[in-house]
Amino acid sequence: MDDKNFNDIDININDYDIVLKIKDENDIAVSRQMAKSFAQKNNFSLADVTKIATAVSELSRNIYRYAKEGYIYIKKKETEPDKDVSIEIIAYDRGPGIENVEQAVAGGYTTSERSLGLGLSGIRRLIDSFYIKSEVGKGTVVMAEKRRRRF
Ligand SMILES: Nc1ncnc2c1ncn2[C@@H]1O[C@H](COP(=O)(O)OP(=O)(O)O)[C@@H](O)[C@H]1O
Ligand SMILES: [Mg+2]
Repeated sequence: MDDKNFNDIDININDYDIVLKIKDENDIAVSRQMAKSFAQKNNFSLADVTKIATAVSELSRNIYRYAKEGYIYIKKKETEPDKDVSIEIIAYDRGPGIENVEQAVAGGYTTSERSLGLGLSGIRRLIDSFYIKSEVGKGTVVMAEKRRRRF
Protein backbone atom coordinates (compact mmCIF):
# COMPACT_ATOMS: atom_id res chain seq x y z
CA MET A 1 0.00 0.00 0.00
CA ASP A 2 1.25 3.48 -0.82
CA ASP A 3 1.74 6.28 1.64
CA LYS A 4 -0.95 8.91 1.58
CA ASN A 5 -0.31 12.51 0.68
CA PHE A 6 -3.05 15.04 1.26
CA ASN A 7 -1.65 18.47 0.57
CA ASP A 8 0.26 19.44 3.70
CA ILE A 9 -0.43 16.20 5.56
CA ASP A 10 1.85 13.27 4.91
CA ILE A 11 0.79 9.98 6.37
CA ASN A 12 3.59 7.45 6.50
CA ILE A 13 1.66 4.22 6.97
CA ASN A 14 4.70 2.43 8.38
CA ASP A 15 4.47 4.66 11.47
CA TYR A 16 1.05 3.30 12.42
CA ASP A 17 0.24 0.36 14.65
CA ILE A 18 -3.16 -0.16 13.05
CA VAL A 19 -4.22 0.55 9.46
CA LEU A 20 -7.83 -0.24 8.57
CA LYS A 21 -9.63 0.11 5.31
CA ILE A 22 -13.24 1.19 5.79
CA LYS A 23 -15.58 0.19 3.00
CA ASP A 24 -18.36 -1.98 4.44
CA GLU A 25 -20.78 -1.11 7.22
CA ASN A 26 -19.26 -3.93 9.28
CA ASP A 27 -15.87 -2.19 9.20
CA ILE A 28 -17.29 0.45 11.57
CA ALA A 29 -17.74 -2.11 14.34
CA VAL A 30 -14.38 -3.71 13.54
CA SER A 31 -12.59 -0.35 13.83
CA ARG A 32 -14.33 0.36 17.12
CA GLN A 33 -13.24 -3.00 18.53
CA MET A 34 -9.65 -2.60 17.30
CA ALA A 35 -9.40 0.89 18.83
CA LYS A 36 -10.84 -0.38 22.10
CA SER A 37 -8.37 -3.28 22.37
CA PHE A 38 -5.45 -1.03 21.46
CA ALA A 39 -6.34 1.56 24.11
CA GLN A 40 -6.85 -1.17 26.71
CA LYS A 41 -3.51 -2.77 25.88
CA ASN A 42 -1.86 0.63 26.37
CA ASN A 43 -3.39 1.06 29.82
CA PHE A 44 -5.83 3.86 29.13
CA SER A 45 -8.56 4.24 31.76
CA LEU A 46 -11.88 2.54 31.14
CA ALA A 47 -13.56 5.90 30.46
CA ASP A 48 -10.86 6.93 27.98
CA VAL A 49 -10.96 3.55 26.23
CA THR A 50 -14.64 4.18 25.57
CA LYS A 51 -13.96 7.73 24.34
CA ILE A 52 -11.27 6.54 21.93
CA ALA A 53 -13.46 3.70 20.65
CA THR A 54 -16.38 6.11 20.17
CA ALA A 55 -14.24 8.64 18.30
CA VAL A 56 -12.94 5.93 15.96
CA SER A 57 -16.37 4.51 15.25
CA GLU A 58 -17.81 7.98 14.51
CA LEU A 59 -14.94 8.69 12.11
CA SER A 60 -15.41 5.31 10.42
CA ARG A 61 -19.13 5.91 10.16
CA ASN A 62 -18.51 9.25 8.44
CA ILE A 63 -16.12 7.62 5.99
CA TYR A 64 -18.63 4.87 5.22
CA ARG A 65 -21.61 7.24 4.92
CA TYR A 66 -20.15 10.21 3.10
CA ALA A 67 -17.01 9.03 1.33
CA LYS A 68 -17.94 5.36 0.83
CA GLU A 69 -14.39 4.29 1.57
CA GLY A 70 -11.25 5.44 3.30
CA TYR A 71 -8.76 4.55 6.00
CA ILE A 72 -8.34 4.70 9.77
CA TYR A 73 -4.78 4.90 11.14
CA ILE A 74 -4.01 4.46 14.82
CA LYS A 75 -0.72 4.70 16.65
CA LYS A 76 0.75 5.07 20.09
CA LYS A 77 3.00 8.08 20.68
CA GLU A 78 5.52 8.53 23.44
CA THR A 79 7.21 11.82 24.26
CA GLU A 80 10.74 12.01 25.59
CA PRO A 81 11.91 12.37 28.28
CA ASP A 82 8.71 12.33 30.32
CA LYS A 83 7.28 9.27 28.52
CA ASP A 84 3.83 10.77 28.18
CA VAL A 85 1.73 8.39 26.15
CA SER A 86 -1.00 9.28 23.71
CA ILE A 87 -2.99 7.61 20.98
CA GLU A 88 -3.27 9.32 17.63
CA ILE A 89 -6.11 8.57 15.25
CA ILE A 90 -6.27 9.64 11.63
CA ALA A 91 -9.30 9.23 9.39
CA TYR A 92 -8.51 9.73 5.72
CA ASP A 93 -10.71 9.65 2.66
CA ARG A 94 -10.81 10.92 -0.87
CA GLY A 95 -14.56 11.41 -0.83
CA PRO A 96 -16.63 14.52 -1.59
CA GLY A 97 -15.21 16.68 1.20
CA ILE A 98 -17.15 19.02 3.50
CA GLU A 99 -18.42 22.33 2.17
CA ASN A 100 -18.62 24.15 5.46
CA VAL A 101 -16.10 22.62 7.82
CA GLU A 102 -16.67 25.15 10.60
CA GLN A 103 -20.38 24.41 10.66
CA ALA A 104 -19.79 20.65 10.58
CA VAL A 105 -17.38 20.83 13.51
CA ALA A 106 -19.59 23.18 15.54
CA GLY A 107 -22.30 20.51 15.64
CA GLY A 108 -25.97 20.33 14.76
CA TYR A 109 -25.21 20.46 11.05
CA THR A 110 -25.86 17.34 9.02
CA THR A 111 -26.43 16.34 5.41
CA SER A 112 -27.78 12.99 6.56
CA GLU A 113 -31.54 12.51 6.94
CA ARG A 114 -31.47 10.36 10.02
CA SER A 115 -28.65 11.85 11.99
CA LEU A 116 -28.06 14.61 14.51
CA GLY A 117 -24.82 16.07 13.20
CA LEU A 118 -23.12 15.57 16.54
CA GLY A 119 -20.36 13.19 15.44
CA LEU A 120 -17.48 15.61 14.84
CA SER A 121 -18.44 18.01 17.63
CA GLY A 122 -18.73 15.01 19.97
CA ILE A 123 -15.29 13.74 19.02
CA ARG A 124 -13.84 17.16 19.72
CA ARG A 125 -15.14 16.99 23.28
CA LEU A 126 -13.91 13.42 23.84
CA ILE A 127 -10.39 13.97 22.58
CA ASP A 128 -7.48 16.26 23.62
CA SER A 129 -6.45 17.62 20.25
CA PHE A 130 -8.43 17.69 17.06
CA TYR A 131 -7.54 18.80 13.55
CA ILE A 132 -9.61 18.61 10.39
CA LYS A 133 -8.82 19.41 6.81
CA SER A 134 -11.42 18.97 4.13
CA GLU A 135 -11.67 20.13 0.56
CA VAL A 136 -14.71 19.77 -1.67
CA GLY A 137 -13.98 17.28 -4.42
CA LYS A 138 -10.76 16.14 -2.78
CA GLY A 139 -11.48 14.52 0.54
CA THR A 140 -11.25 14.79 4.29
CA VAL A 141 -8.58 14.16 6.89
CA VAL A 142 -9.32 14.22 10.60
CA MET A 143 -6.57 13.89 13.17
CA ALA A 144 -7.44 13.28 16.81
CA GLU A 145 -5.19 12.63 19.79
CA LYS A 146 -5.95 11.41 23.31
CA ARG A 147 -3.36 11.59 26.08
CA ARG A 148 -3.07 8.91 28.72
CA ARG A 149 -3.93 10.23 32.14
CA ARG A 150 -1.69 9.14 34.98
CA PHE A 151 -3.72 7.22 37.52
N1 LIG B 1 -15.60 12.12 5.80
C1 LIG B 1 -16.54 12.99 5.41
N2 LIG B 1 -16.70 13.28 4.08
C2 LIG B 1 -17.64 14.16 3.68
N3 LIG B 1 -18.48 14.80 4.51
C3 LIG B 1 -18.40 14.55 5.82
C4 LIG B 1 -17.42 13.64 6.34
N4 LIG B 1 -17.55 13.62 7.68
C5 LIG B 1 -18.54 14.46 7.98
N5 LIG B 1 -19.06 15.04 6.87
C6 LIG B 1 -20.12 16.07 6.80
O1 LIG B 1 -20.20 16.73 8.04
C7 LIG B 1 -21.51 16.58 8.60
C8 LIG B 1 -21.42 16.45 10.10
O2 LIG B 1 -20.78 15.22 10.45
P1 LIG B 1 -21.03 14.62 11.89
O3 LIG B 1 -20.70 15.65 12.89
O4 LIG B 1 -20.32 13.31 12.00
O5 LIG B 1 -22.60 14.41 11.97
P2 LIG B 1 -23.54 13.38 11.16
O6 LIG B 1 -22.68 12.30 10.60
O7 LIG B 1 -24.47 12.89 12.21
O8 LIG B 1 -24.21 14.20 10.12
C9 LIG B 1 -22.11 15.37 7.89
O9 LIG B 1 -23.51 15.41 7.85
C10 LIG B 1 -21.49 15.48 6.50
O10 LIG B 1 -22.20 16.41 5.71
MG1 LIG C 1 -21.17 11.40 11.70
